[in-house]
Amino acid sequence: MKLVNLLCAAAVGCLMTAPVALAQDQILIKFSHVVAPDTPKGKGAEKFKELAEKATAGKVKIEVYPNSQLYKDKEELEALQLGAVQMLAPSLAKFGPLGAKEFEVFDLPYIFPNKDVLRRVTEGPIGKQLFSKLESKGITGLAYWDNGFKIMSANKPLIKPEDMKGQKMRIQSSKVLDAQMRALSALPQVMAFSEVYQALQTGVVDGTENPPSNMYTQKMHEVQKHATLTDHGYLGYAVIVNKKFWDGLPADVRTSLEGAMKEATAYANDIAQNENDVSMAQMKASGRTEFHEQTKDERAAWVKALMPVHKDAESRVGKDLIESIYKEAAAAGFKM
Ligand code: LMR
Repeated sequence: MKLVNLLCAAAVGCLMTAPVALAQDQILIKFSHVVAPDTPKGKGAEKFKELAEKATAGKVKIEVYPNSQLYKDKEELEALQLGAVQMLAPSLAKFGPLGAKEFEVFDLPYIFPNKDVLRRVTEGPIGKQLFSKLESKGITGLAYWDNGFKIMSANKPLIKPEDMKGQKMRIQSSKVLDAQMRALSALPQVMAFSEVYQALQTGVVDGTENPPSNMYTQKMHEVQKHATLTDHGYLGYAVIVNKKFWDGLPADVRTSLEGAMKEATAYANDIAQNENDVSMAQMKASGRTEFHEQTKDERAAWVKALMPVHKDAESRVGKDLIESIYKEAAAAGFKM
């Protein structure tokens, strides 16, 4: 090694440190998530990277790590709190273990008659109030991103609610989802998203629930013989940051990032439905899974079996919160 390099390796402030010093001026945001790049969340994250780097003229660099490359579900939340990553977008069903169990209200079956009602909730005072619950955990909520409504899959036809009896079903870490599966006499099993494909393939679990985009991009349709288009529940995300990191950013940088997030959110929410429709079409074309569309009566039977979960969940997520969502639904013309 040349002497100059040796000296540079030992000393701070020599000529060789100049590029390093420049790089150090740059702010790095590691954005970790668990789904494929080719999903509503994966594409939203890439869009945010593009917009944020442009808006800050390269001052901020965003590194997106998809597919649980860095961390699995539970670990990523711990990593955010410790500051090992700065940004995540976990599903709303994964905040219970943090102590923010109110987020599980999003998991209640049939609570959102459509996306308009959902939007009234996420973009109104309820969405804000939920984000305020995260502050004491060292987390700041920036935006809500859509995925879509879930379908139920297994290796047997799931026509009536009773068909779920005894089925081992992978769920996210939400007690409301646990109650939902129990209401169907199924056996819920919490498992990290990255482990689901293998668990389905080896028969550790019989089935699962997810929007089509997640099912397709994780190839779950290759290991599930049947699925029913139940649309029984919603899956969406909260884009969150480490609060200390966020509050410590120069004000102008934070403003630029907020602008980029607003635009990325509009983009992510705009593409979500189409991403799910395309995934559904691709799964149907592959012929691996048989998809069942519910008749009106079949749907009514599932609704009847699952609505009691709302009452059961009152003590966990709060009666007032559930009722405030009913009110938003009523204001949009739906009676719950
Ligand atoms: C799941 O674990 O099923 C989903 O939350 C994955 C995701 O982030 O969409």
